[in-house]
Amino acid sequence: NKAQAWSARFSEPVSDLVKRYTASVFFDKRLAPYDIQGSLAHADMLAAVGVISTQDLQDIQRGMTQILSEIEAGQFEWLLDLEDVHLNIEKRLVELVGDAGKRLHTGRSRNDQVATDIRLWLRAEIDVLIGLLGELRHALATTALQHTDTILPGFTHLQVAQPVTFGHHLLAYAEMFGRDAERLQDCRRRVNRLPLGAAALAGTSYPIDRERVARTLGFEEVCRNSLDAVSDRDFAIEFCAAAALVMTHISRLSEELVLWMSPRVGFITLADRFCTGSSIMPQKKNPDVPELARGKVGRVNGHLMALLTLMKGQPLAYNKDNQEDKEGLFDSVDTLRDTLTIFVDMVPGISVKPEAMRAAALQGYATATDLADYLVKRGTPFRDAHEVVALAVRECEQRGCDLADLSLDELRAFHPAIESDVHAVLTLEGSVAARKHIGGTAPERVRFEAKRILELH
Ligand code: ARG
Repeated sequence: NKAQAWSARFSEPVSDLVKRYTASVFFDKRLAPYDIQGSLAHADMLAAVGVISTQDLQDIQRGMTQILSEIEAGQFEWLLDLEDVHLNIEKRLVELVGDAGKRLHTGRSRNDQVATDIRLWLRAEIDVLIGLLGELRHALATTALQHTDTILPGFTHLQVAQPVTFGHHLLAYAEMFGRDAERLQDCRRRVNRLPLGAAALAGTSYPIDRERVARTLGFEEVCRNSLDAVSDRDFAIEFCAAAALVMTHISRLSEELVLWMSPRVGFITLADRFCTGSSIMPQKKNPDVPELARGKVGRVNGHLMALLTLMKGQPLAYNKDNQEDKEGLFDSVDTLRDTLTIFVDMVPGISVKPEAMRAAALQGYATATDLADYLVKRGTPFRDAHEVVALAVRECEQRGCDLADLSLDELRAFHPAIESDVHAVLTLEGSVAARKHIGGTAPERVRFEAKRILELH
């Protein structure tokens, strides 16, 4: 079977099934532009150190330019027989430019080549994802700024806890996505190192200039150990862990959107373009997009587990197991890119129902803590104040009313320190406005934080 690059050594061809089983071209062809970029940097270096001629370099550059345009035009013929993206491109180069093409692979192996390709590709994708996270933060902060004064119940244990502003609630997600961007930025530093030059595993006897290649490709550092360079996939695992956290945050937000859109809660509706109907129930408008986003976390978490498992038993250096790193990594990136792009559009399309939020906040004694704090400020120890208010809540529950519905005399029966100014602290507005420290839910604080985020993005 003459098609294969290593066929001279073999006496029988592989079966069609084994060929398909071992091939990666149908998924790794997406690395093609980076494979070409890496090859051009390698060839440039080989010419600079005198391993190939300037004429060879020019031939390689000319061939690669044509190959890239063939790929972009969808005219490139990808062959299963040629196993992967690297051999497909190399074969075509030889067809186009002859001997110069045959010299390209000098001092290089597919092992350091593929590691370089993935890093170049992932680096570019990380930059796109960081940009999208910034856009999502911008969208959250913009909506938050419109709802600095919109009050809804804050929950713990999904039970009404204390009133919060909707803007504050949205900015909680802006914080999460900010940390996600930091994590990706940090991961990018370790992605941005050059494996090329490690060759198959031991380095090469040619007088290569790895630093030149690193500069050409924009890598910040050169991998310092050839065995590690070809076999390290930590960078991909780290990325998948960061990706899983992004999707975890998306999933929490999605869960809330679904819950808020339930008629039983009725806090928001999503724009029609993110919902679908039912084929049987004519009245339905379902929040499909957040539900699906919540569901897609599963696959991204799965890819992280797959990669960790892929690496755990591998002896140094490169093993073919590593070919399995790509599909999960590609899918994680695709899932994140699509999900974030949709959320950037969906968040500004949330229509808020402030009356429903307010009505819910008025139920469940959300300002009970404020009443306890009121007593503390008048000299009652907090634990005693807590008990006094608990008794008042119990009384309200029996009567079916709210704390604010009790008259001053009725309240004073629970504690003599209560005076006519008490009703101000029992209001939702009074409760949120009082929490104006850094990180608090007060409208003025939320306005400040939202503007800070908008200035960043
Ligand atoms: N397709 C391979 C991969 O994805 C490229 C490296 C192959 N190297 C090898 N010695 N078989 O990892």
